[in-house]
Amino acid sequence: MSDAPVAVITGAAGGIGLALTRHLQRQGYRIVLVDLDQAALERAAKEGSLDPARILLISADVSCEDDVKRYVAAALERFGRIDAFANNAGIEGAPALIEAQSVEMLDRVYMVNVRGVFLGLKHVLQVMRRQGSGAIVNLSSLAGIMGAPTHGAYVMSKHAVIGLTRTAAAEAADVGVRVNAVLPGAINTEMMRRIERDSGNATATAAANRAATPLGRYAEPEEIAAVIAFLLSPEASYVTGSLYTADGGMSTF
Ligand SMILES: NC(=O)c1ccc[n+]([C@@H]2O[C@H](COP(=O)([O-])OP(=O)(O)OC[C@H]3O[C@@H](n4cnc5c(N)ncnc54)[C@H](O)[C@@H]3O)[C@@H](O)[C@H]2O)c1
Repeated sequence: MSDAPVAVITGAAGGIGLALTRHLQRQGYRIVLVDLDQAALERAAKEGSLDPARILLISADVSCEDDVKRYVAAALERFGRIDAFANNAGIEGAPALIEAQSVEMLDRVYMVNVRGVFLGLKHVLQVMRRQGSGAIVNLSSLAGIMGAPTHGAYVMSKHAVIGLTRTAAAEAADVGVRVNAVLPGAINTEMMRRIERDSGNATATAAANRAATPLGRYAEPEEIAAVIAFLLSPEASYVTGSLYTADGGMSTF
């Protein structure tokens, strides 16, 4: 077990994060789960039937550099290396037209989705550069390549994740570290439930999302986890700086 690969997943107590944790555990990874609070992590570990001997739960705010240093240090102390990093924690923010959006909400979304992703890259890349190996997936969104009315702050943040992904991929390629982005469409998680609720008409919003998706349904988080896991694996050895849409065809028309 001591030579089993090690993954760090932020936002691990959420929909996609927990599905990815379960997927990687089935593949034999030892996993560091990072999320805002310990109780949510413990609930997730129970719900996901995770093996306590092969996981480490760290409560941390990805937008705080000291917390990021702490989760990276804890991963190294417990497992000695980081082979795979899913930079996944994100928030959607409250919906509003740009002219009505508060600067406070803009800053909140930016802090988690951009600063948090940047800090994760900064500190995990230091480790992977020393190792001379590793793979990273940043969670962008279809909102990273398209507009989304009333979600300007989120759209801005997910476009930024793509720029960071491409830059990190170019900077880390010489030491054999790969960095890619996954762009989900509409996924069946709490985030989507909040987006539906905040729209004022959850049923109509869900129906509109399905109608805009050629496959005609939301993805289950496991379907996104499988794409992330592929990009983190040696199977994707020639893939870096890429944008992987996993959107049921939503971006095709
Ligand atoms: N659900 C979708 O339809 C969808 C679509 C496109 C992209 N995404 C992206 O996928 C990622 C995961 O989303 P999800 O649907 O699983 O959402 P989710 O709300 O189910 O989970 C997100 C997790 O991130 C954690 N988190 C939030 N802020 C944090 C912080 N500052 N520090 C540490 N953890 C924090 C939350 O506690 C939560 O457990 C996000 O980056 C999201 O933007 C989701």
